[in-house]
Amino acid sequence: MSDRYAVIGNPVAHSKSPAIHAEFARATGQDIDYGRIEAPLGGFSQAVARFRAAGGKGLNVTLPFKHEAFAHCGRLSERARLAQAVNTMRFEDAFGDNTDGVGLIRDLCDNLGVALEGKAVLLLGAGGAAQGVVGALLEAGARRVVIANRTLAKAQALARRFAGAGACGYAELGAERFDVVVNATSAGLSGESPALPDALLEHALAYDMMYGRETPFLAAARRAGARVSDGLGMLVEQAAESFFIWRGVRPATRPVLAKLRGS
Ligand code: ATR
Repeated sequence: MSDRYAVIGNPVAHSKSPAIHAEFARATGQDIDYGRIEAPLGGFSQAVARFRAAGGKGLNVTLPFKHEAFAHCGRLSERARLAQAVNTMRFEDAFGDNTDGVGLIRDLCDNLGVALEGKAVLLLGAGGAAQGVVGALLEAGARRVVIANRTLAKAQALARRFAGAGACGYAELGAERFDVVVNATSAGLSGESPALPDALLEHALAYDMMYGRETPFLAAARRAGARVSDGLGMLVEQAAESFFIWRGVRPATRPVLAKLRGS
Protein backbone atom coordinates (compact mmCIF):
# COMPACT_ATOMS: atom_id res chain seq x y z
CA MET A 1 0.00 0.00 0.00
CA SER A 2 1.21 3.56 -0.75
CA ASP A 3 2.25 5.77 2.17
CA ARG A 4 -0.59 8.16 2.89
CA TYR A 5 -0.37 11.94 3.32
CA ALA A 6 -2.96 14.72 3.06
CA VAL A 7 -3.58 18.42 3.43
CA ILE A 8 -5.91 19.31 6.28
CA GLY A 9 -7.75 22.63 6.43
CA ASN A 10 -11.12 24.34 6.18
CA PRO A 11 -11.89 25.04 3.41
CA VAL A 12 -9.58 22.72 1.51
CA ALA A 13 -11.57 21.73 -1.60
CA HIS A 14 -9.60 24.01 -3.93
CA SER A 15 -6.14 23.15 -2.59
CA LYS A 16 -3.57 22.43 -5.28
CA SER A 17 -1.38 20.47 -2.86
CA PRO A 18 -2.65 17.01 -3.96
CA ALA A 19 -1.78 17.76 -7.60
CA ILE A 20 1.64 19.15 -6.61
CA HIS A 21 2.57 16.16 -4.44
CA ALA A 22 1.33 13.73 -7.10
CA GLU A 23 3.72 15.39 -9.56
CA PHE A 24 6.60 15.26 -7.07
CA ALA A 25 5.92 11.57 -6.39
CA ARG A 26 5.84 10.74 -10.09
CA ALA A 27 9.06 12.64 -10.77
CA THR A 28 10.98 11.10 -7.87
CA GLY A 29 9.51 7.59 -8.04
CA GLN A 30 8.09 7.79 -4.50
CA ASP A 31 5.03 5.67 -3.79
CA ILE A 32 2.68 8.03 -1.96
CA ASP A 33 -1.01 8.75 -1.90
CA TYR A 34 -1.88 12.39 -1.05
CA GLY A 35 -5.45 13.50 -0.31
CA ARG A 36 -7.48 16.30 1.26
CA ILE A 37 -9.17 16.41 4.67
CA GLU A 38 -11.70 19.11 5.46
CA ALA A 39 -11.87 19.12 9.27
CA PRO A 40 -14.69 20.95 11.04
CA LEU A 41 -13.64 23.99 13.07
CA GLY A 42 -12.93 22.62 16.52
CA GLY A 43 -12.36 19.13 15.07
CA PHE A 44 -8.66 19.30 14.15
CA SER A 45 -7.25 16.86 16.73
CA GLN A 46 -9.95 14.26 16.08
CA ALA A 47 -9.38 14.45 12.32
CA VAL A 48 -5.61 14.05 12.80
CA ALA A 49 -6.13 11.05 15.11
CA ARG A 50 -8.50 9.43 12.59
CA PHE A 51 -6.02 9.89 9.74
CA ARG A 52 -3.18 8.44 11.82
CA ALA A 53 -5.28 5.47 12.88
CA ALA A 54 -6.03 4.84 9.20
CA GLY A 55 -2.28 4.60 8.48
CA GLY A 56 -1.51 8.25 7.58
CA LYS A 57 2.20 9.16 7.74
CA GLY A 58 2.00 12.93 7.76
CA LEU A 59 -0.03 16.04 7.02
CA ASN A 60 0.24 19.45 5.52
CA VAL A 61 -1.77 21.92 7.57
CA THR A 62 -3.46 24.97 6.14
CA LEU A 63 -5.93 27.58 7.34
CA PRO A 64 -7.17 27.82 10.01
CA PHE A 65 -5.31 25.04 11.83
CA LYS A 66 -1.61 25.98 11.74
CA HIS A 67 -1.59 27.19 15.34
CA GLU A 68 -3.49 24.13 16.56
CA ALA A 69 -0.97 21.95 14.74
CA PHE A 70 1.81 23.84 16.54
CA ALA A 71 0.20 23.02 19.89
CA HIS A 72 -0.35 19.40 18.83
CA CYS A 73 3.25 18.45 17.93
CA GLY A 74 5.60 17.00 20.53
CA ARG A 75 8.77 18.06 18.72
CA LEU A 76 9.19 21.27 16.77
CA SER A 77 11.78 22.66 14.38
CA GLU A 78 13.30 25.98 15.40
CA ARG A 79 11.49 27.75 12.56
CA ALA A 80 8.11 26.30 13.62
CA ARG A 81 8.78 27.31 17.21
CA LEU A 82 9.57 30.89 16.13
CA ALA A 83 6.54 31.08 13.84
CA GLN A 84 4.28 29.43 16.45
CA ALA A 85 2.68 27.73 13.47
CA VAL A 86 3.09 24.30 11.88
CA ASN A 87 2.28 23.45 8.26
CA THR A 88 4.04 20.06 8.09
CA MET A 89 3.45 17.17 10.50
CA ARG A 90 5.43 13.92 10.44
CA PHE A 91 3.81 11.31 12.64
CA GLU A 92 6.61 8.78 13.17
CA ASP A 93 8.46 11.16 15.51
CA ALA A 94 5.63 13.60 16.34
CA PHE A 95 7.56 16.28 14.47
CA GLY A 96 6.15 19.64 13.43
CA ASP A 97 7.84 22.02 10.99
CA ASN A 98 6.98 25.18 9.10
CA THR A 99 8.06 25.34 5.46
CA ASP A 100 6.15 28.51 4.52
CA GLY A 101 9.08 30.83 5.17
CA VAL A 102 11.59 28.82 3.20
CA GLY A 103 8.95 28.45 0.45
CA LEU A 104 8.64 32.23 0.14
CA ILE A 105 12.40 32.78 0.20
CA ARG A 106 13.06 30.12 -2.46
CA ASP A 107 10.36 31.59 -4.71
CA LEU A 108 11.74 35.11 -4.30
CA CYS A 109 15.40 34.15 -4.68
CA ASP A 110 15.44 31.14 -7.02
CA ASN A 111 12.36 31.67 -9.19
CA LEU A 112 12.06 35.46 -9.25
CA GLY A 113 15.75 36.30 -8.91
CA VAL A 114 15.33 38.69 -5.97
CA ALA A 115 18.31 38.53 -3.64
CA LEU A 116 17.10 39.60 -0.20
CA GLU A 117 20.52 40.43 1.21
CA GLY A 118 20.41 44.05 2.41
CA LYS A 119 16.86 44.63 1.16
CA ALA A 120 14.05 46.45 2.96
CA VAL A 121 10.89 44.35 3.12
CA LEU A 122 7.37 45.48 3.98
CA LEU A 123 5.12 42.70 5.19
CA LEU A 124 1.38 43.46 5.13
CA GLY A 125 -0.63 41.58 7.75
CA ALA A 126 0.17 40.04 11.11
CA GLY A 127 -1.96 36.89 11.08
CA GLY A 128 -1.05 33.26 10.51
CA ALA A 129 0.33 33.79 7.01
CA ALA A 130 2.63 36.62 8.11
CA GLN A 131 3.88 34.81 11.22
CA GLY A 132 5.32 31.99 9.15
CA VAL A 133 7.66 34.17 7.09
CA VAL A 134 9.13 36.94 9.29
CA GLY A 135 11.99 34.78 10.60
CA ALA A 136 12.87 33.47 7.13
CA LEU A 137 12.97 36.98 5.61
CA LEU A 138 15.38 38.14 8.30
CA GLU A 139 17.48 35.01 8.06
CA ALA A 140 17.73 35.49 4.28
CA GLY A 141 19.54 38.77 5.00
CA ALA A 142 16.79 41.39 4.73
CA ARG A 143 18.15 44.59 6.24
CA ARG A 144 14.78 45.47 7.66
CA VAL A 145 11.36 43.84 7.89
CA VAL A 146 8.49 46.19 8.71
CA ILE A 147 5.18 44.58 9.58
CA ALA A 148 2.18 46.79 8.78
CA ASN A 149 -1.25 45.76 9.98
CA ARG A 150 -4.76 47.21 10.29
CA THR A 151 -4.67 46.27 13.97
CA LEU A 152 -1.39 47.85 15.05
CA ALA A 153 -1.11 45.91 18.33
CA LYS A 154 -0.93 42.61 16.42
CA ALA A 155 1.91 43.90 14.23
CA GLN A 156 3.76 45.12 17.31
CA ALA A 157 3.32 41.80 19.10
CA LEU A 158 4.65 39.89 16.08
CA ALA A 159 7.58 42.27 15.56
CA ARG A 160 8.63 41.89 19.21
CA ARG A 161 9.27 38.20 18.60
CA PHE A 162 12.00 38.89 16.01
CA ALA A 163 15.09 41.05 16.39
CA GLY A 164 15.29 43.27 13.29
CA ALA A 165 11.53 43.54 12.72
CA GLY A 166 9.51 46.74 13.15
CA ALA A 167 5.79 47.50 13.17
CA CYS A 168 3.45 50.24 11.96
CA GLY A 169 -0.11 50.98 10.84
CA TYR A 170 -1.02 51.54 7.18
CA ALA A 171 -1.51 55.27 7.70
CA GLU A 172 2.17 55.64 8.63
CA LEU A 173 3.39 54.23 5.32
CA GLY A 174 4.66 56.61 2.68
CA ALA A 175 7.99 58.08 3.59
CA GLU A 176 10.07 54.92 3.65
CA ARG A 177 10.83 52.99 0.43
CA PHE A 178 10.81 49.19 0.30
CA ASP A 179 12.38 46.82 -2.22
CA VAL A 180 9.85 44.07 -1.64
CA VAL A 181 6.22 44.36 -0.44
CA VAL A 182 4.62 41.07 0.58
CA ASN A 183 0.86 40.87 1.06
CA ALA A 184 0.15 38.34 3.81
CA THR A 185 -3.31 39.68 4.64
CA SER A 186 -6.49 37.78 3.82
CA ALA A 187 -8.05 41.01 2.48
CA GLY A 188 -8.01 39.65 -1.08
CA LEU A 189 -10.47 36.92 -0.09
CA SER A 190 -13.13 39.59 0.33
CA GLY A 191 -12.00 41.58 -2.71
CA GLU A 192 -10.20 44.16 -0.58
CA SER A 193 -6.67 45.44 -0.16
CA PRO A 194 -4.88 47.50 2.47
CA ALA A 195 -4.80 51.08 1.13
CA LEU A 196 -1.22 51.86 0.10
CA PRO A 197 0.30 54.95 -1.49
CA ASP A 198 1.27 54.35 -5.16
CA ALA A 199 4.76 55.67 -4.50
CA LEU A 200 5.30 52.79 -2.09
CA LEU A 201 4.74 50.23 -4.82
CA GLU A 202 6.13 51.70 -8.01
CA HIS A 203 9.75 50.56 -7.60
CA ALA A 204 9.07 47.45 -5.55
CA LEU A 205 8.45 43.81 -6.19
CA ALA A 206 4.86 43.33 -5.02
CA TYR A 207 4.27 39.74 -3.93
CA ASP A 208 0.90 38.33 -2.89
CA MET A 209 0.91 35.08 -0.95
CA MET A 210 -2.46 34.26 -2.49
CA TYR A 211 -2.67 32.53 -5.83
CA GLY A 212 -5.29 31.68 -8.39
CA ARG A 213 -6.71 35.18 -8.60
CA GLU A 214 -5.61 38.74 -9.29
CA THR A 215 -6.10 40.33 -5.87
CA PRO A 216 -6.87 44.06 -5.54
CA PHE A 217 -3.35 44.37 -4.03
CA LEU A 218 -1.71 42.96 -7.17
CA ALA A 219 -3.97 44.98 -9.44
CA ALA A 220 -3.05 48.20 -7.60
CA ALA A 221 0.64 47.29 -7.67
CA ARG A 222 0.49 46.62 -11.40
CA ARG A 223 -1.20 50.00 -11.98
CA ALA A 224 1.51 51.68 -9.91
CA GLY A 225 4.18 50.14 -12.15
CA ALA A 226 5.48 47.49 -9.73
CA ARG A 227 6.81 44.11 -10.75
CA VAL A 228 4.24 41.63 -9.40
CA SER A 229 3.97 37.98 -8.44
CA ASP A 230 1.28 35.81 -6.94
CA GLY A 231 2.06 33.09 -4.37
CA LEU A 232 1.89 30.01 -6.57
CA GLY A 233 5.67 29.61 -6.52
CA MET A 234 5.68 29.80 -2.72
CA LEU A 235 3.04 27.07 -2.61
CA VAL A 236 5.14 24.76 -4.78
CA GLU A 237 8.35 25.53 -2.89
CA GLN A 238 6.84 24.94 0.56
CA ALA A 239 5.38 21.69 -0.75
CA ALA A 240 8.80 20.56 -1.98
CA GLU A 241 10.30 21.19 1.46
CA SER A 242 7.47 19.21 3.10
CA PHE A 243 8.05 16.36 0.63
CA PHE A 244 11.73 16.40 1.59
CA ILE A 245 10.87 16.25 5.32
CA TRP A 246 8.70 13.18 4.76
CA ARG A 247 10.59 11.33 2.05
CA GLY A 248 14.21 12.55 2.29
CA VAL A 249 14.14 13.41 -1.44
CA ARG A 250 14.03 16.95 -2.80
CA PRO A 251 11.87 17.21 -5.92
CA ALA A 252 12.53 19.71 -8.72
CA THR A 253 10.02 22.55 -8.48
CA ARG A 254 10.41 24.39 -11.82
CA PRO A 255 8.60 21.81 -14.00
CA VAL A 256 5.70 21.59 -11.54
CA LEU A 257 5.36 25.36 -11.31
CA ALA A 258 5.48 25.66 -15.10
CA LYS A 259 2.80 23.00 -15.45
CA LEU A 260 0.53 24.70 -12.89
CA ARG A 261 0.94 27.99 -14.73
CA GLY A 262 0.05 26.22 -17.95
CA SER A 263 3.27 27.23 -19.64
P1 ATR B 1 -4.10 34.41 7.97
O1 ATR B 1 -3.78 33.15 8.68
O2 ATR B 1 -4.55 34.27 6.54
O3 ATR B 1 -3.06 35.45 8.12
P2 ATR B 1 -5.62 35.71 10.02
O4 ATR B 1 -4.74 35.15 11.07
O5 ATR B 1 -7.10 35.79 10.24
O6 ATR B 1 -5.47 34.90 8.69
O7 ATR B 1 -5.07 37.14 9.63
C1 ATR B 1 -5.63 37.89 8.61
C2 ATR B 1 -4.76 39.10 8.35
O8 ATR B 1 -5.31 39.84 7.25
C3 ATR B 1 -4.69 40.05 9.52
O9 ATR B 1 -3.44 40.69 9.49
C4 ATR B 1 -5.82 41.03 9.19
O10 ATR B 1 -5.69 42.30 9.79
P3 ATR B 1 -6.21 42.50 11.32
O11 ATR B 1 -5.20 41.84 12.20
O12 ATR B 1 -6.25 43.97 11.50
O13 ATR B 1 -7.57 41.85 11.38
C5 ATR B 1 -5.65 41.16 7.71
N1 ATR B 1 -6.85 41.60 6.99
C6 ATR B 1 -7.97 40.89 6.74
N2 ATR B 1 -8.84 41.63 6.03
C7 ATR B 1 -8.28 42.84 5.82
C8 ATR B 1 -8.67 44.03 5.15
N3 ATR B 1 -9.85 44.12 4.53
N4 ATR B 1 -7.82 45.06 5.13
C9 ATR B 1 -6.61 45.00 5.74
N5 ATR B 1 -6.18 43.88 6.41
C10 ATR B 1 -7.00 42.83 6.45
